[in-house]
Amino acid sequence: LPRDIFPGRCNSAGIDLSDPLVREPLLERLDALRSRHWHAEPTFRSDEEGETAPITKPHDLTREVGTRRDTLPEEVAEAIGRAAAIQPGWDRLGGEKRALLLEAAADLFEEHSDEFLSLCQREAGKTLADAVLELREAVDFLRYYAAEARRQFTSPTMLPGPTGEENYLTLGGRGVFATISPWNFPLAIFIGPAAAALAAGNTVVAKPAEQTPLIAALAVELCHAAGIPEEVFQLLPGAGDVGEAITSDPRIAGVAFTGSSDTARRINQSLAARDAPIATLIAETGGQNAMIVDSSALPEQVTRDVVAGAFQSAGQRCSALRVLYVQDDVADELLTMIRGAFETLNIGDPADLSVDVGPVIDPDAKAALERHVARRRKNGRTMWRRELPDGLSKGCFVAPTIIEMNSILDLKRENFGPILHFVRFKAEELGQVVEDINATGYGLTCGLHSRIDDVRRFVESRIKVGNFYVNRNQIGAVVESQPFGGHGLSGTGPKAGGPHYVARFATEKVVCVDT
Ligand code: NAD
Ligand code: ALA
Repeated sequence: LPRDIFPGRCNSAGIDLSDPLVREPLLERLDALRSRHWHAEPTFRSDEEGETAPITKPHDLTREVGTRRDTLPEEVAEAIGRAAAIQPGWDRLGGEKRALLLEAAADLFEEHSDEFLSLCQREAGKTLADAVLELREAVDFLRYYAAEARRQFTSPTMLPGPTGEENYLTLGGRGVFATISPWNFPLAIFIGPAAAALAAGNTVVAKPAEQTPLIAALAVELCHAAGIPEEVFQLLPGAGDVGEAITSDPRIAGVAFTGSSDTARRINQSLAARDAPIATLIAETGGQNAMIVDSSALPEQVTRDVVAGAFQSAGQRCSALRVLYVQDDVADELLTMIRGAFETLNIGDPADLSVDVGPVIDPDAKAALERHVARRRKNGRTMWRRELPDGLSKGCFVAPTIIEMNSILDLKRENFGPILHFVRFKAEELGQVVEDINATGYGLTCGLHSRIDDVRRFVESRIKVGNFYVNRNQIGAVVESQPFGGHGLSGTGPKAGGPHYVARFATEKVVCVDT
């Protein structure tokens, strides 16, 4: 939007892949990066050898992208000590200077977009279109939280002083924040919480997902190149044991976690068991996301949005559509259309621009999804599965699948991949449908396709989700415009990319001066 309509900060313009003058040179540059070998290790390594694990492409497990050297227990302790020692100085630097450093990092992220796009494809198995969106979101998080540092952390908020005293409120860092992130947004959700914690005056020890440390290592390196001191933002690669070593350290003042609901519970227990001040836990977790379609909906639009919501990113978005509820009088027609679109999905190597559905992240993820499909098949569910094309046996590919079911409550857990469940309902059952969706206990995204305002108001006022989307798909929340995050089993809030996010990483201090 023009600045006179929407003044101030703007989200990144991204990369227009539909323009051949942009796309073709980009593809050539990505080709040149195809065999680059990357490495991730702790920001401050001891002299110990430590264990090194290979990172392979999800779409071809025989091809190594790089290596990961895990953080040793003594290195976790050392990292937290360094972060604690420098935190007061970082906090006192103030919002404006921290904002400038985060903005410098955003500029460097854009300058290094080729490397990030290449890593998103090779390390995380993302299509180029998904990689572009991810990079854009990462840059937007950096600039938005920088703007928030400036807005909330540069000068105190003056409070009323009816007694003649001067009262004001200041925000400051809590201390050392741990950020623990998932593999499905290895850049945006790695850097977003870290940028918010830094903006608020905390120092950060960041543990990326064990599947995707290489992207994280590049992100941290560029933040250091932008001027953020190494002690202030440290990388601690490793698996869950490293995460556990971090969260059980009594010097950790807060944890910003994104991942599964089960891991969030374990982190909560680990924090509670410490003999330490009570720590803040910000957890953004899983979903059992539904879409409701009534007979007033536009079938072509629904088909497009269902296919995007369920199968884009191989269904590996926390926001992805898992359960589609369709009113019975249009269900057959809509299912035929969705199946038609589903049959045209191109499955394969994400480096191929024509591919719609890439791999899932690793063999464990594939096995869990296949177990789910096998169980439903054993129970006699009607299902449609795509045949996987030849030549994909070296990668973690799961055939996109549609399964008919009776209710969302038949699903006991999130199935994190390209599997859509289809349920029919009668118009008079709409209230029950909403109750059942709420009864899952999750509350992340929900979609509705209806042209009837009363239906929209009915669902909107009852559905317990963080993000409710009407007559569109339910993925791809935009920083600042669509702050993202859920309730219940889906997370604690505050919403990422929203106006209350950065303040949750801060302490509040009220100063009262008798003038
Ligand atoms: P996960 O819970 O398996 O792992 C997430 C992170 O936690 C990883 O870095 C992992 O190493 C670490 N970890 C594992 N055990 C730990 C422990 N005991 N202590 C500390 N850290 C530990 O999740 P995942 O498979 O990487 O990610 C997929 C999940 O993330 C899905 O459930 C998805 O819905 C969710 N997700 C949610 C959002 C959101 O905004 N709500 C966004 C993206 C992903
Ligand atoms: N923020 C991401 C989305 O909306 C998870 O799809």
